[in-house]
Amino acid sequence: MGMEEWRVDVPAPAHVPADRVVDIRFAMGHVPNDRLDPYAETDALRAPGVPRLLFSPYPFSDKTCGTWCVSHYEDIRRVYEDNAHFSTEGVAQFQALAGETFPSIPLGVDPPDHGRYRRFLNSHFTPASLNRMEPQIRAMAVGMIEGFAGKGEVDIAFDFGRIFPVRVFLDLMGLPFSMFEQFLAWEYEILHSRDHGRMADAVRQVIAYLRGFVAEKQANPDDRLGSYIANGSIDGTPLTEDEIMGMTWFLWLGGLDTVASTISQMFRRMALDQALQQRLRDEPDLVNSAVEEFLRTQPLVNSFRLVKKDLDWDGVTLKAGDYITCLNSAGNFDPAQFRDPRTFDPARQANRHYTFVGGVHLCLGAHLARRELRILLDEFLKRVPTFRVKPGADTHVTPGLLSIRNLPIVWDVPATNRGAVHGLPEAS
Ligand code: HEM
Repeated sequence: MGMEEWRVDVPAPAHVPADRVVDIRFAMGHVPNDRLDPYAETDALRAPGVPRLLFSPYPFSDKTCGTWCVSHYEDIRRVYEDNAHFSTEGVAQFQALAGETFPSIPLGVDPPDHGRYRRFLNSHFTPASLNRMEPQIRAMAVGMIEGFAGKGEVDIAFDFGRIFPVRVFLDLMGLPFSMFEQFLAWEYEILHSRDHGRMADAVRQVIAYLRGFVAEKQANPDDRLGSYIANGSIDGTPLTEDEIMGMTWFLWLGGLDTVASTISQMFRRMALDQALQQRLRDEPDLVNSAVEEFLRTQPLVNSFRLVKKDLDWDGVTLKAGDYITCLNSAGNFDPAQFRDPRTFDPARQANRHYTFVGGVHLCLGAHLARRELRILLDEFLKRVPTFRVKPGADTHVTPGLLSIRNLPIVWDVPATNRGAVHGLPEAS
């Protein structure tokens, strides 16, 4: 694959040269595939002769227009770090489809205001807060794993990955677990239906629900993040209704599915790569660097930015009002930044990937996500022996959010343990 195959005759703005207009949706999380490394094809974007700035003319996210795209690590860094030219205004602004005008906070706010909101929210994501949450997260993981360890099989995507991180998130926010299935159904409509009418319907329902949730927390405050926001103030000034909704809504959107998709892709990789799985069992001390390598090799989100003022770059002009998408799905495998980028190295050091983006909008939940993934890997490998994909199961993956719906995995259970509630004996 290369430029010749990608060129398309689809209308683009007049200032975009026709030879930059391409169909590279395979790199944008739109097309499922069945490779061990689902992001493998993105190397073609950095091949010699391919311009560094390409233009995808297709609608993306909640937008109806096309977007410039960059694929090199260095170019992606430039976009994330240059707040004078690139803005997050309108990023993840799905609420606009339902006629809402409040911004997504903190993602949709540029510096310097962004810093005020980030400092306000940080208190629930500090190492001390995470340490407080850890026993609860560990207990949740262990309880769920022990529920199936003796059965020799689980649908790790549907019956575990989909549920565990969402329980952690709902608990963090103080949202009720009874809404779980409904939340995921709404999230699916918003992120996957690609139909603006359906997206708007789902957004309307989520926002109506969250408004009720905020009112309830204002009437009956508790010690969770949702209540902290609903009753919050910054520098002595109470948050406005828009600020409260902007934060509550964006946390709902950002916190629900990201870890779930990471887990399902992580288990798919281990189930298909037995040597990797064995190494992680033999060297449990690798857990931290291995989680980072799973994150690098599974860049779920390609973030985009609004161009704030005209910029000449790579022989083209980006005009104010254009969008530019950072293909983390390509940048995380750039050999200029990562040695042997297509090798999964669970001991990789200095792993500065863009799965959580870079610059001021670096994911607020990154440390929480890492903590969940480390606990999970640690507790799972202690309790479940060598596992593989259930014969006949579909291992296709959409390289993006909500990426795998079902992934049954199987393992051998000694006859004496079969059916035991607690499965395999716990390793000390
Ligand atoms: C593996 C799991 C996760 C991934 C891959 C992920 C990915 C991302 C990405 C790519 C962004 C930046 C988007 C952009 O700049 O366009 C982001 C921002 C954010 N994420 Fe996450 N996220 C994860 C988990 C979480 C969790 C669990 C939470 C909350 C509990 C969370 C909350 C946020 C927030 C609040 C922001 C906005 C930060 C800011 O603008 O300053 N994320 N995340």
